[in-house]
Amino acid sequence: MIAIGCDHGGLNIKNAVIDYLKENGIDYRDFGCDSPESVDYPIYAYQVAKAVSDGEAKFGIICCGTGIGVSMVANKVKGVRAAVCTDAFCAEMTRRHNNSNVLCMGGRVIDEATAVKLADIYLHTSFEGGRHEKRVQMITDIENGNFVIND
Ligand code: RB5
Repeated sequence: MIAIGCDHGGLNIKNAVIDYLKENGIDYRDFGCDSPESVDYPIYAYQVAKAVSDGEAKFGIICCGTGIGVSMVANKVKGVRAAVCTDAFCAEMTRRHNNSNVLCMGGRVIDEATAVKLADIYLHTSFEGGRHEKRVQMITDIENGNFVIND
C-alpha cells in the first residue's frame, strides 16, 4: 500500500499521481488534503510518514509547494527516510542507495507529468544493499542515538 498526501501547494501533482496509481491498480490511501484552500503541511506529511513508520504503507508520497517542508516533517518520524526529488536520477538513486521510503515532490517545482514519472521510477526501483546497507544503518543509528564513529 502507498500512503499519499499533500498540502494546497502539492494538490495538483498529488492528484496526477493518484490517477497514475489508480490506472496501474496500485493500492493507496489518500491522507488529504482535498482542496486548494491553504492548509498546514505538517498535518498531512505526518500522517503519511506515520503510516510508513507503522508498517501500514510500504512507501509514502507527499507533495507540497517545494517538497521540502513535507520532507522535514517526514524525516522526524522514526524509520522514515524521506527524499525530495525533482528529477528522474534522484528518484532512482534515492531508492538504490538510500533505501528511501518516502518520496517528496513540489507542485511549484515540477509539473504533473514529471511527478508521475518520478513516482513510477521510485515505486519500481529496488535498494541495492551491499555497501549502502552499512550507510543506511548509520542513519538508523543516528536516529536511535547510538551512532559511534570508529576511525
Ligand atoms: C505553502 O505555501 C508552502 O510553504 C508549502 O507548500 C511548502 O512548499 C513548504 O515547504
